[in-house]
Amino acid sequence: MDTEPRDATAGEVADWWATSISRMEPGVLELRGIPVQELIGSHGFVATIWLLVRGSSPTPQEAALLEAAMVASVDHGPQAPSIAIARMTVTCGVGINNAMASGVNALGDSHGGAGQQCVELLSEIVARESGGLDLTEATTQVVAEHRARSRYLPGFGHRFHPVDPRRAPLLALVDAAVENGVVAGRHLRAAREVERLLNEGRTKPVPMNIDGATAVIYAELGFAPPLARGLFVLSRSVGILAHAWEESTQGRRNKGPMPTSILPAHR
Ligand SMILES: CC(C)(COP(=O)(O)OP(=O)(O)OC[C@H]1O[C@@H](n2cnc3c(N)ncnc32)[C@H](O)[C@@H]1OP(=O)(O)O)[C@@H](O)C(=O)NCCC(=O)NCCS
Repeated sequence: MDTEPRDATAGEVADWWATSISRMEPGVLELRGIPVQELIGSHGFVATIWLLVRGSSPTPQEAALLEAAMVASVDHGPQAPSIAIARMTVTCGVGINNAMASGVNALGDSHGGAGQQCVELLSEIVARESGGLDLTEATTQVVAEHRARSRYLPGFGHRFHPVDPRRAPLLALVDAAVENGVVAGRHLRAAREVERLLNEGRTKPVPMNIDGATAVIYAELGFAPPLARGLFVLSRSVGILAHAWEESTQGRRNKGPMPTSILPAHR
């Protein structure tokens, strides 16, 4: 057996980095087979995200639904850890990219991850319905299995909003998309059934939240669960950028979690 290292051939290097996303030659840049000069002006930013991630262009109606989900998630104020972290980081003498990356790095299973988990939950209900259960049976099973592991169903409830203001407009858009044949509506029905079962007999409701409503959209549009998180991260990056930039213009250095006015040295 030949164990000596040898120089890789150009073909081996090209194969190693083979991708169907982009093709470059001097003077040529194609994204998913479309010359970039044709994309510019013909594709919106959200349609371009879809194109790169999925390999095909969305219809204008599909792009509009995805855009609604991504608009809805852009920001939730500085009490969200990702935003607070970006605002603190940008005062530490780093570049705006470091501040953004720090904020994005805080987006995990319990901060921004509920959308991915909710897509998984809804997809499981839809799969069991396809397997022959009726919607209520499928939902009851999946909800019971989830609650045996965790008290909280992803995509429902909110610490701050009694009813998430982003829920109704997003679901109205999905309803319209179902009516117009843009999406099938099975994940939407599953989400509403989860909400109905979850709230049976409760006096204080636990309504669907932003992560639930956007999970419905991502699932209806056929995005795999991890992409729901990826798309959320892209969306929330807008708020992270805006907050980091605003903070950077306010002249504070080394902003910490407490106002300096209440720290002992300032009393
Ligand atoms: C966001 C969240 C932490 C807010 O929780 P909270 O309002 O502080 O809720 P509490 O822990 O005080 O629970 C209040 C009641 O609602 C219930 N509840 C709240 N969210 C629930 C959920 N997602 N699934 C099931 N029950 C839920 C609790 O079991 C509790 O019931 P009880 O009154 O019978 O004891 C919680 O709803 C949650 O973890 N949701 C799932 C994760 C998620 O979607 N996160 C994204 C938020 S935008």
